Amino acid sequence: MAREILVALALCGSAASLAASRRHARPTLRMGAEPLSQVTGMASMDQAVLGKYMGLDTGDDCQVEYVFLDKDQVARSKCRTLPLKKVQGPVDAYPKWNYDGSSTGQAPGDDSEVMIVPRAKYPDPFRGGNHVLVLCDTYEPDGTPLPTNTRAPAVARFESGGAKEQVPWYGLEQEYTLFNLDGVTPLGWPVGGFPKPQGPYYCGAGADRAFGRAVSEAHYRACLYAGLEVSGTNAEVMPGQWEYQIGPSIGIDAADQLTISRYILSRVCEDLGVIVTIDPKPIAGDWNGAGMHINFSTESTRKEGGLAVIEAMCEKLGAKHTEHIAAYGEGNERRLTGDCETASIDQFSYGVADRGCSIRIPRDTAADKKGYLEDRRPASNVDPYVATSLIFATCTSA
Ligand SMILES: *[C@@H]1O[C@H](CO)[C@@H](O)[C@H](O)[C@H]1NC(C)=O
Repeated sequence: MAREILVALALCGSAASLAASRRHARPTLRMGAEPLSQVTGMASMDQAVLGKYMGLDTGDDCQVEYVFLDKDQVARSKCRTLPLKKVQGPVDAYPKWNYDGSSTGQAPGDDSEVMIVPRAKYPDPFRGGNHVLVLCDTYEPDGTPLPTNTRAPAVARFESGGAKEQVPWYGLEQEYTLFNLDGVTPLGWPVGGFPKPQGPYYCGAGADRAFGRAVSEAHYRACLYAGLEVSGTNAEVMPGQWEYQIGPSIGIDAADQLTISRYILSRVCEDLGVIVTIDPKPIAGDWNGAGMHINFSTESTRKEGGLAVIEAMCEKLGAKHTEHIAAYGEGNERRLTGDCETASIDQFSYGVADRGCSIRIPRDTAADKKGYLEDRRPASNVDPYVATSLIFATCTSA
């Protein structure tokens, strides 16, 4: 996925430089009437002008943004109007819809309709008012989940594994990296060069160490507005890299929230004219990669005697290390090198408060003898439906 972004960016980049040279070659016709820039992003769209229209009252008509995942698990969306009464009702009563799967690599051109089924709704932080975002999953016309619909099997796994009684809680830490519109220069990096070594950037403040805070702030507020259980954010170790946390959230809801939070992040970055990637190792070499650590607990780890249950879970996770690594995101081998606060990809380990382990048992959990474990292996681009349901299945297996 990252490669596709970079290719697209390289194209944007050359289009942008062409446009720039053309602009310089021609005189501007009238003051204030410069032709629309070819540069993507903010330059061609004035958000303040847009605001005039977004303030218009739509009465009982609501704009409902149907969000669905393409073949690369990247969120796309399209909008339709629904009456307020319908929008305020339960999400199961929202109409199903469809899209052209031949344009997303999910269906052949001669039978291209993909059905989308609303699963969760969130107040729309971009339109405000009564407008909503609706998270959908994808089906063939006959009702079979698409092969790229990982939500349906995750729901089945939770149900058959007794999630109702076990009540799995998840804390998801999503790391991401911001790039300039050239697609190759992370925010805060000199073009074609490197910033000062890592050290001052993690949780850093100041114009020489925090790059892209506007994204982090806008995203945080937008997630709160949408009703997500976003629980924190911070600047990360590599300059231009940030993290936010979702949770604790229960069962399938955790992956749903993470999915919609990624969609919101891409919309915020679109507004602010920066590129976001969740590639696990956006810059090769001695620069931290990006992960999605997953905190996990169940009813039995949270009560008296929980630590013994957690240790048993670690053993089970160790026995299925290869299966988990295969499910934890593409390109993870570039990140899990054993350096940069990671464990090596082909070795499993667990321990108390050790950031170099595959699974970390937090110090509080060890002291209280109950609590949760932290799986530090998942990459930032992991499919949250696959990862959360697999952790549940492995940890609660007999
Ligand atoms: C996960 O646990 C770690 C401590 O082990 C904590 O620092 C972090 O904030 C937790 N993240 C979430 C999302 O709950």
